[in-house]
Amino acid sequence: MTIISAGKKDSKYDIFICGESIPKVKLNEHLNAKNKILIITDHGVPDKHVKKLKSLIKNQNIYIYKVKAGEKSKSFKSYQSIINKLFELKFDRTDTIIAFGGGVIGDLTGFCAATFLRGIKYIQIPTTLLSQVDSSVGGKTAINVPQGKNLVGSFYNPSFVLISTGFLKTLPENEYQSGLGEIVKYALIGNKKLKKIIQDNYKSIIKRNGKVLELIIEESIKTKSKIVTQDEKENGIRAILNFGHTFGHAIEAFSNYKKITHGAAITLGMVIAAKVSFYEGHIKESKLREAINLIRSLDLDINHHKYKYVDLKQYIKTDKKVSEGKLNLILIDNKFNAFKTSKFNSRSIVKAMS
Ligand SMILES: NC(=O)c1ccc[n+]([C@@H]2O[C@H](COP(=O)([O-])OP(=O)(O)OC[C@H]3O[C@@H](n4cnc5c(N)ncnc54)[C@H](O)[C@@H]3O)[C@@H](O)[C@H]2O)c1
Repeated sequence: MTIISAGKKDSKYDIFICGESIPKVKLNEHLNAKNKILIITDHGVPDKHVKKLKSLIKNQNIYIYKVKAGEKSKSFKSYQSIINKLFELKFDRTDTIIAFGGGVIGDLTGFCAATFLRGIKYIQIPTTLLSQVDSSVGGKTAINVPQGKNLVGSFYNPSFVLISTGFLKTLPENEYQSGLGEIVKYALIGNKKLKKIIQDNYKSIIKRNGKVLELIIEESIKTKSKIVTQDEKENGIRAILNFGHTFGHAIEAFSNYKKITHGAAITLGMVIAAKVSFYEGHIKESKLREAINLIRSLDLDINHHKYKYVDLKQYIKTDKKVSEGKLNLILIDNKFNAFKTSKFNSRSIVKAMS
């Protein structure tokens, strides 16, 4: 097991990365045996995982609350139903909530924990690859509102994060690939060790080899935790984690958040952003090829051509990274380091997408 820390001072927390089984001792060390625990999960998380988790916790007061699987559950309605449940169970600040699922469950549970009684303890036990390498770390919690995705939320760190590769065996292929997309992102924005691991082990990664998975999850978390600890409230360096996201979010929004997973959209977004980096003269053609080959080696879709600039334009222009009327892009250089810039020719975007 590897332990990586994130967060500062009082909101510092550990991320435990373990193999296929969850270390019972570690889990119970951090849970109070007497107080109440509510496990929040969704109907898509296989029952056997929920039963397993419940059996590992030494506590007589464990409750389970399930919401529907999918993005729709990141809603005010689910938020309210969980808050009602917490009142009904008479939860107080000594009790704990566990987010047990993918990013939807993590974001929703985190927001409930951040706001119930002005904040109670919560633990992230992510069960999708995307949530293991991305959403469970960094303390961003949110629900979606009709005005947009993730527009109501807060920054609220968990007490700890427990990652086990065992959950990934039941993950559908498209969800697995979604997580791989985010892993490649860390390799392209500065984690050279991760890039090498992917280049040397792409076949084992595709086959979900447990040992290699542990390695790539560890490297991804190292990059994410370092950046989010430096910039907890997203005022600076954290923006580089959004490599590929301006175009990826536009693809997701254009597709109505259906038909394409978050990671698949971000992967296409990274291909476009790498091409923009090339047309802007930040990377050589050989580096562009290297970036695209890395993505392709994991069997991820790189064909963004069905998404046309004319269709995505309106979403690109209203991206979160627009500040003072200027669109900021996250691009990469020849050393695969990412940087934010508002200085680019918009024709490079058109060329990259054509
Ligand atoms: N907070 C952050 O920093 C952050 C970062 C990235 C993404 N996100 C959010 O994360 C969400 C996407 O998360 P996601 O990709 O994990 O999707 P998800 O939570 O919708 O999970 C995908 C599907 O996998 C199922 N599932 C979960 N674990 C499983 C398992 N072990 N075996 C089989 N099926 C399983 C779920 O039921 C669901 O149907 C989005 O809402 C996005 O906004 C948040």
